[in-house]
Amino acid sequence: TGLVTLDSGFMNTASCESKITYIDGDEGILRYRGYPIEQLAAQSSFLEVAYLLIHGDLPSSEELSQFTERVERHTHLHDNFKNLIGAFPTDAHPMAVLSSAVSALPGYYPESVDPFDSHAVELATVLLLAKLPTIAAYAFRQSRGQEMIGPDPSLGYVPDFLRMSFSTNGEPYEVDDALVQALNLLLILHADHEQNCSTSTVRIVGSAHANLYASVSAGIGALSGPLHGGANEAVLAMLSEIQASDDDVDTYMDRVKNKEKGVRLMGFGHRVYKNYDPRAAIVKKVADKVLARLGQSDELLDIAKRLEEIALSDDYFIQRKLYPNVDFYTGLIYKAMGFPTNMFTPLFAVGRAPGWVAQWREMMEDPTTKIGRPRQVYTGSPSRDYLGINER
Ligand code: CMC
Repeated sequence: TGLVTLDSGFMNTASCESKITYIDGDEGILRYRGYPIEQLAAQSSFLEVAYLLIHGDLPSSEELSQFTERVERHTHLHDNFKNLIGAFPTDAHPMAVLSSAVSALPGYYPESVDPFDSHAVELATVLLLAKLPTIAAYAFRQSRGQEMIGPDPSLGYVPDFLRMSFSTNGEPYEVDDALVQALNLLLILHADHEQNCSTSTVRIVGSAHANLYASVSAGIGALSGPLHGGANEAVLAMLSEIQASDDDVDTYMDRVKNKEKGVRLMGFGHRVYKNYDPRAAIVKKVADKVLARLGQSDELLDIAKRLEEIALSDDYFIQRKLYPNVDFYTGLIYKAMGFPTNMFTPLFAVGRAPGWVAQWREMMEDPTTKIGRPRQVYTGSPSRDYLGINER
């Protein structure tokens, strides 16, 4: 079997070849299929970016309307499926609901599970993109003990998601264009990020020829961790903790730098970006705009800015090349939109879905793909003989 090289955390090991997303961590560059993230964020729509990631090129207007129409046709959930979500306790974390619901989908759509049937894969792709926002909105309503409100696809993907999330039963929902634009942009920024923890999970599960839903459900589990997608929730928890305690920002920073157990500057640092995270630069501007638009002066935003200011001029962070990542400001925007903290990571999941799908499909279509099966360096006991229980 030859020599095995230890690379804990895959610091230096590429797990695949990919044509989807390019990151240059030193230069702070992120491109989807060659297009700079800044251009896509400023000009594109989430479903257009989903098409780009999954199919490789920007769609023609006819391709985009067909794709959009297919997605919108499938946004409804089966009544029994609503019961499944409704069976969760109201204090269940929506990420638990999301991953369970996604792993249940193949039970309802068995015609879409064969990973080697291109029609089935196309159907699974559309079903997943269509149903995730509905599931997330239902999970949100369930967590507030509210009745679920079904989709109205004629409104469009992002506006309808906001309506399903926030509409008060029976009352028309006024869609705020500025919020739609901001959420559209945030979903685009999250849509793919090459071989991050959840995407690698999706690939490794899929490499065993598990179906798309099973793979994505596992990815949602990985995303829930506070070092990954759960960081957006953890940032808000950190800011609120600082606000509520008598400690000032400097005291919290001292705890971070003293490496107190479990205390990190959440929303800072990245495995690949060692200069700045281009998504964070975009998000920061949106945060200012959305908060101004909603007329909110958020004390937490002030704490965040102060933390950032201190960190960017502090040796601890400079030496370790730690900069704000995408999660540092997103939570503040979601909060301003009216989402509670436990919905932040589900929003990340809705955004990341096209990337998971694109990466899973790329892997499945690659004839050189092998089952993901890392090796290990064994550090346990040498061979020893079994002793009967009275002899130990
Ligand atoms: N606060 C304080 N110290 C940190 C932080 C932080 N946020 N991040 C890294 N460090 C220190 C770490 O203690 C280590 O110090 P030393 O060299 O003295 O041992 C050094 O920086 C390198 O850190 P690492 O943990 O070896 O780096 P990594 O590439 O394995 O971790 C990371 C990357 C994102 C997990 C980490 O920076 C982190 O935990 N950040 C906070 C959580 C977070 O914001 N995650 C979101 C990431 S971006 C979006 C996403 O993936 O969802």
